[in-house]
Amino acid sequence: MKIGIDDIGLSVPQHFFALEELAERHGIDPQKYLVGIGQEFMAVPAPDEDIVTLAANAALPLLDDASRASIATVILATESGIDQSKAAGLFVHSLLGLRADCRVVEFKQACYGATAGLQMARALVAQRPHEKVLVIATDIARYEQNSEGECTQGAGAVAMIVAENPRLLELHPHQGRYSLDVSDFWRPNLRSTALVDGKLSIEVYLESLRNAWQSYRADGGLGLEDMSFLCFHQPFTKMAKKAFSVFEAIEPEAAKALGEKAYSTSQLYGKAIGNCYTASLYIALLSLLDNSDEDLTGRNIGLFSYGSGSVGEFFSATVVPGYQAHSRRKAHARMLASRTRLGHEQYSTWFYGDNHPAVADYSTPYVTGGAFRYGDGELTTMSD
Ligand code: CAA
Repeated sequence: MKIGIDDIGLSVPQHFFALEELAERHGIDPQKYLVGIGQEFMAVPAPDEDIVTLAANAALPLLDDASRASIATVILATESGIDQSKAAGLFVHSLLGLRADCRVVEFKQACYGATAGLQMARALVAQRPHEKVLVIATDIARYEQNSEGECTQGAGAVAMIVAENPRLLELHPHQGRYSLDVSDFWRPNLRSTALVDGKLSIEVYLESLRNAWQSYRADGGLGLEDMSFLCFHQPFTKMAKKAFSVFEAIEPEAAKALGEKAYSTSQLYGKAIGNCYTASLYIALLSLLDNSDEDLTGRNIGLFSYGSGSVGEFFSATVVPGYQAHSRRKAHARMLASRTRLGHEQYSTWFYGDNHPAVADYSTPYVTGGAFRYGDGELTTMSD
């Protein structure tokens, strides 16, 4: 049975902040962020956006009467949860008008959560092939202001429909997993920003990749020479280069044959959006599918998911014939091109201010320009 990603959509906030300006504020060479970290912009949510609206907006274009009728499970993965008890997916389920006989659940394990969601979705479709699963990764990556992590912030969501005979990507059965209890990045209850040991987090990420790859190979997974592209969890796009260096060390010949083009197209969206935690790997995948000028039909893609704390998983997929016909690349390009640049004061107020939707607001979303927002449509700005 072929199971995989049948449709995939992106949603990003309509505002961004330039890393060049952040570097000026921090009094450092902009090249550190642009080249050393590999980030150009960070997406900034407005006060009337949050993980729920981002999630619903990513999924909305994927839905029609047929898909609404066949989605029997919604898995929403996030590490920017809005409630300790209720799944954020329930708000999304309601906004999207999905059927009532549907299970809705939230997954959490840092940036890895959506991959657990994807694997569960695969198992559910294997059990009940007539049903589809909606997996949504949605996050706002927020660090202490003026900390080393500030340049790796961002926000966005990716929605995927997992189904039998998928139109985009067939997931392979092989899985390489690695879990290790470590404090590299975490966000205790009542904190809105993450605590992070940045250097340790990079070390553990790379260690996790090495072990997950060995586990994937031991599970009968493809050799590196059988893959055309690699998509990595990208908290900042330089991380993909660091991840690829693991392969250069352990699989030197195959890595040399693949070269930088194995991951460079997957960095394009991330550079413009920033870290989206659970969504980052899937933004890298979308970046490859949307922006590659080659026909990817039949190509194998290796994917590495990492969530601090930590869990890593390496898995793979094959691009399905005819995938181009189901691409949403034009809509994604329009979404990114139509964003508005913020100055430092506005970015700072929106990212760090206490003006995000209150729980009471969750009952009053509205739709404007085809997108879900909160409030009465009047965006609160600095000048209000
Ligand atoms: N021109 C060009 N490059 C420059 C430069 C300049 N003027 N100045 C510095 N650089 C380079 C450095 O050489 C370095 O490159 P390498 O990593 O290739 O050596 C790079 O810029 C970064 O410089 P530093 O290491 O000095 O940066 P830093 O100490 O300020 O912090 C960071 C970098 C640790 C990534 C920090 O931004 C951070 O803590 N980020 C959040 C944590 C994170 O993203 N961790 C990733 C792994 S964990 C994970 O993946 C889960 C998740 O999503 C959080």
